[in-house]
Amino acid sequence: RAESALAGPVLAWYDREARELPWREPGAGAWAVLVSEIMLQQTPVNRVLPAYAAWLARWPTPAALAAAAPGDAVRMWGRLGYPRRALRLHECARQLVARHDGIVPDDVDALLALPGIGAYTARAVAAFAYRQRHPVVDTNVRRVVARAVLGRGDPGPPATTRDLAAVEALLPADAERSARFGVALMELGALVCVARTPRCGSCPVAADCAWLAAGSPAYEGPTVRP
Ligand code: ADE
Repeated sequence: RAESALAGPVLAWYDREARELPWREPGAGAWAVLVSEIMLQQTPVNRVLPAYAAWLARWPTPAALAAAAPGDAVRMWGRLGYPRRALRLHECARQLVARHDGIVPDDVDALLALPGIGAYTARAVAAFAYRQRHPVVDTNVRRVVARAVLGRGDPGPPATTRDLAAVEALLPADAERSARFGVALMELGALVCVARTPRCGSCPVAADCAWLAAGSPAYEGPTVRP
């Protein structure tokens, strides 16, 4: 099967335009990737950056965090919001020590069995840390695919199985290329294909975008009634 027409342009754009973020460095390691993904789920990048650095300086391994008191994890979480994430990450570290020799597993099903790790985070760790070929589907990715592939302005409500299959179908065959494409799609949704004011003039896939070709129609999904 031919590679999706999105892959080449999105990857070339990512190489030119992506932000340099510490959890994307090749040496980041699976624990660092896991910590970053938990923090990034409900907190913007600029607020995560200092908290991520401080957290990993204090607890560079799952074993280090597992040995701390849960209250220290919550205090260290600081102002990131949703502090239950700190407790789940702490419990996750304890299970990593108890069941996985203190190592973050590279298997999606093993990752899914850990506290605080859902469909998104498990595949993000497997793809970004272990360079495996898995669809990594967050809100940004759902929006990019809804527009470029389906011609819809907005993805509508999440449907995990269907969303995973839609993104899986776009992944390059090669695992490393697929992992880079996953983070590149996410970055495109964060920087260009944004919800309210998409920058289609700067988009690497504008020529291939079903939504732009259709005249960028407004979302016509279920509407919320007053
Ligand atoms: N890079 C990898 N995962 C990310 C995320 N969730 N948000 C921003 N950048 C990322």
